[in-house]
Amino acid sequence: MKLIRVENYEEMSSYAARLVEQQILDNSHSVLGLATGSTPLGLYGELIQGVRERNITYRDIQTISLDEYCGLSSDHPNSYRYFMNDKLFRQIDIPLENTHIPDGTAVSVEAECERYEALIDEIGPPDLQILGLGTNGHIGFNEPGTPETSVTHCVKLEESTRTSNARFFKDLDSVPTHAITMGIQSILKSEEILVLASGKKKAPAVKRLLAGTVSEDFPASYLWQHNRVTLIVDKEAYSLAMAEKE
Ligand code: GLP
Repeated sequence: MKLIRVENYEEMSSYAARLVEQQILDNSHSVLGLATGSTPLGLYGELIQGVRERNITYRDIQTISLDEYCGLSSDHPNSYRYFMNDKLFRQIDIPLENTHIPDGTAVSVEAECERYEALIDEIGPPDLQILGLGTNGHIGFNEPGTPETSVTHCVKLEESTRTSNARFFKDLDSVPTHAITMGIQSILKSEEILVLASGKKKAPAVKRLLAGTVSEDFPASYLWQHNRVTLIVDKEAYSLAMAEKE
């Protein structure tokens, strides 16, 4: 795992944007794996600027998103489809049909998971996968205890995850209890993985990830099994790992 230490959130976002844009310049038909949450928002802002100011085009890019809440439709403001359309897709020149996200309203969740995993194999795997880091070490919505062999599946969200994501909802009760997420194997299929972590809240998770012990209790640790992972951390997110080294 390659570690890149930067000063703050803005530097993390622009560093990540440079890597994503380089990928697009190298291959205009790239497949990007995308994450939701607060962490990649700055990166997405930079990518939007790239279209406007640096002639970057997403015309032939495909995207595969990691996860979606069960029960929320694409026009629900808290669905990840809505988030991605709003924060990125509608502000760049990507055809919406090139953007893929699990359908949280599918009648059969099981069939939807199978369809999505087949899609990853068909158009993917991503050339570059962006990941945020849950405070409990989750990636996508792969909560602690997720087996290494998992592919796209439905998960029951941990209370800590629901509480941490409640800030986007009216109240905790409105946060869905289940989600569809790409599994650990689906994520590890990617050619290259970029993990972003910013802020004090992520410092314990970054410290545990960098300790390097692979464990089911901490799903991000499976990333040690991939040979092209870059972790970009800002000063606050790295603070506890740094204290350990001193
Ligand atoms: C969320 C999402 C993940 C995200 C992570 C961190 O629950 N399912 O895809 O990467 O948790 O979120 P944030 O970036 O808001 O801290």
